[in-house]
Amino acid sequence: MDSFVERARDLPILGTGISTEFGARHSGLDLLEFRRRYPNFAQFLEIGADLDRGIDDDARAWAAAGGSVTYHFLDLNLEESEDLDAHWIEDTAAAAREVGAAWLCGDAGLWHIGPRDRGHGILMPPILSQDSALEMAANVAALREASGFEVLPENPPAHVFVGPLHLLDYFARVIDGADSGMLLDVAHLAVYQRVQGNAPLTGLDGFPLERVLEIHVAGGTPFEWQGRPFVDDDHGTQVLEETWTILEHVLPLTSNLKALVFEGERNAIEEVVPIFERIDILRKKAGR
Ligand SMILES: [Fe+2]
Repeated sequence: MDSFVERARDLPILGTGISTEFGARHSGLDLLEFRRRYPNFAQFLEIGADLDRGIDDDARAWAAAGGSVTYHFLDLNLEESEDLDAHWIEDTAAAAREVGAAWLCGDAGLWHIGPRDRGHGILMPPILSQDSALEMAANVAALREASGFEVLPENPPAHVFVGPLHLLDYFARVIDGADSGMLLDVAHLAVYQRVQGNAPLTGLDGFPLERVLEIHVAGGTPFEWQGRPFVDDDHGTQVLEETWTILEHVLPLTSNLKALVFEGERNAIEEVVPIFERIDILRKKAGR
């Protein structure tokens, strides 16, 4: 098996992209229309999918027209070895191959409690401990080997985190143990730092940013409950200032960056364009 550096070299550079989930067009972004009007902001499509619903017609049409895609799973507990069953791997790899996905990625934690069933769906972060990091690392490597796809774990969103490690320290251990790259969601990281009472860039100084192959940017809505700050990761158009601070800091340091997504699938085209424009300015400034 090649090392991360060798494998990363062989992965395509996808550029700036957009995301979708099953049926998203009916309540949000018209993918093909967006690509027609803003091809530089829609160089690839990240397809959020689960085996239950499959891939919708819009995403299939994108792939059929030769558009680049990535496959973002919404139904795997990457923290739990027992969830990584042969059927899921086989069917997910087949779906990803069918649309020509460049790699697999997804929020790394728990997507369901109990059986893999949409009625049991809830996105929870991993327990930020060494044991959990080692188990997740083993799962990333096992999934990569069994599926034939590079696997990028993503730091997930949450209101509350449990465990002794800083989120970035946890993921540094995961990607080191798996000899893997990572998908850094700077909006999720901004929320983590805020709810933990940290400055936006806390923990980034020792983090291996050269392992970040993909970045997500997204909007979120702050609210308070019983005097504590929270942020709803609603993929709206209100991008937190801390998210911009983190993005501007990491872009020059992510030397292997292949892909950057603004997750705006729930919004209208006019609403997301100014955000893509601001991202573009930061990218160019960082030489990415
Ligand atoms: Fe994300």
